[in-house]
Amino acid sequence: MLERIQEIRSKAMECSSIIKDQGSVYVVSHIDADGLTSAGIICKALERAGIEHSIHFVKQLDEVEIESIANLNPELVIFTDLGSGMINSLNAHGINAVIADHHQPRGEMEHHLNPHLYGFNGSYELSGSGMTYILANALGDNKDLADLAIVGAVGDLQHLKKGHLTGLNRYILEEGAQAGVLSFEKDIMLFGKQTRPVFKLLQYASDPYLPGLTGNEDACIGFLHDLGIQFGGDERWRRWIDIGQMDKQKIVSALVQYCLRAGLPPYKIERLIGEVYLLTNEKEGTEMRDASEYSTLLNATARYGHADIGLAVCMGDRGEAYESAKKLLSEHRQNLVNGLMFVKEQGVTQLDNLQYFDAGSSILETIVGIIAGMSTSVIGNRNLPIIAFADAKDGVKVSARGTQDLIRKGLNLSEAMSMTAAEVNGAGGGHDIAAGATIPESAKEEFIKKLDAVIGKQLKR
Ligand code: C5P
Ligand code: C5P
Ligand code: C5P
Ligand code: ZN
Repeated sequence: MLERIQEIRSKAMECSSIIKDQGSVYVVSHIDADGLTSAGIICKALERAGIEHSIHFVKQLDEVEIESIANLNPELVIFTDLGSGMINSLNAHGINAVIADHHQPRGEMEHHLNPHLYGFNGSYELSGSGMTYILANALGDNKDLADLAIVGAVGDLQHLKKGHLTGLNRYILEEGAQAGVLSFEKDIMLFGKQTRPVFKLLQYASDPYLPGLTGNEDACIGFLHDLGIQFGGDERWRRWIDIGQMDKQKIVSALVQYCLRAGLPPYKIERLIGEVYLLTNEKEGTEMRDASEYSTLLNATARYGHADIGLAVCMGDRGEAYESAKKLLSEHRQNLVNGLMFVKEQGVTQLDNLQYFDAGSSILETIVGIIAGMSTSVIGNRNLPIIAFADAKDGVKVSARGTQDLIRKGLNLSEAMSMTAAEVNGAGGGHDIAAGATIPESAKEEFIKKLDAVIGKQLKR
């Protein structure tokens, strides 16, 4: 592994000298947690190196975006958390570019940093922010930015594959721990340990779904009460970080027992515990202290057209931008709950090799992928990938999510989605386990049938 890291590093050095040769650079990044942290990392590094820069966020790097970037005639564009899937088009437009991405590459370019080119799997061994962190450390000493790199990886759910970060992510994690900006430990994997009362962790558990507890506030309070841990009154509002080690252990083992009795399969119960990542420079009890909560806070900004707010938080704003982000977060949470309810009510349609739902305009296209991913622990068939449609301005947005099991059997959603989308005049890409596309409205039916056939072929090979 060290040899391959060395190779990436020397490519990053090449890229950094190209960047240092420019009077100014134009940064283009993605509107999710990984894209925002990537942007935060590269902007900090450029600032420190005294290189003039401006930043632009895009939902998707499609032909239209590339054309408008080309029209600006930028000296050099740094693409972070995107670009690798659109190299042919970037070349065709003669754009002078450095790419730091982790999506499955299509096409060749000289200054292209991507884990797939070095034998690492970009869906779980390195994120866009991780690749950007490596580039940033070629520009100067920027090891303190490892915390943002890990937030991006966790935002892309890269820690879930093995229950902890592996590959190049692990290497960055250790560098960050050495630099004193990160720590990691085994803990309960429910969302909200820093900021929310313990009963809410149970009430909003979605992976695994806790039958009888998820969605039922009284039952969750009762569950804790029965353990002799929380007795109502003010104590009920204690957060996970407020309670002692003994009580935490009591809750975890009671939850495991509860899940066993409820008949949950062991692989789901195992997901209750995993490695969690803490940002040691951040204040305890804030979203930014926990990589998972931090990434959700960031998603709540950029996916709703407020990337500037998320970026400001990444750059260290703990005042106005942070306050705005918190407001957006509560709206985002509500949207996720509503979206999940919508899917539960509407149900999914099952074909031979996939299942799908059409959210129409009921779910925003920028979060339909998150909801598709969360929905499989609640509804549908875990043995099939899930596909979701949502109306978009430029057609129909399609999001696809798979499982480790299916990937072992041959599933590659990035391949399937980009190929099938191209056949109906759309475009798509992503990772083996999670991919997306935009297609013309009229092509929905043809698309899903074709995709079903393509995935069927993948699973047979
Ligand atoms: O564009 P990008 O690489 O940032 O997005 C990755 C997507 O893959 C995220 O939406 C993440 O939730 C999804 N993912 C997933 N399951 C995994 C790994 C990633 O749904 N095991
Ligand atoms: O505090 P409040 O009741 O508003 O928080 C509920 C929110 O927690 C839900 O809207 C949901 O979006 C969020 N949540 C989450 N991740 C989970 C479970 C719940 O972001 N795994
Ligand atoms: O949008 P969604 O969350 O479903 O995206 C899943 C993955 O597919 C992300 O990594 C995203 O960057 C990628 N994607 C893509 N091309 C598209 C849409 C999504 O590469 N047109
Ligand atoms: Zn990413």
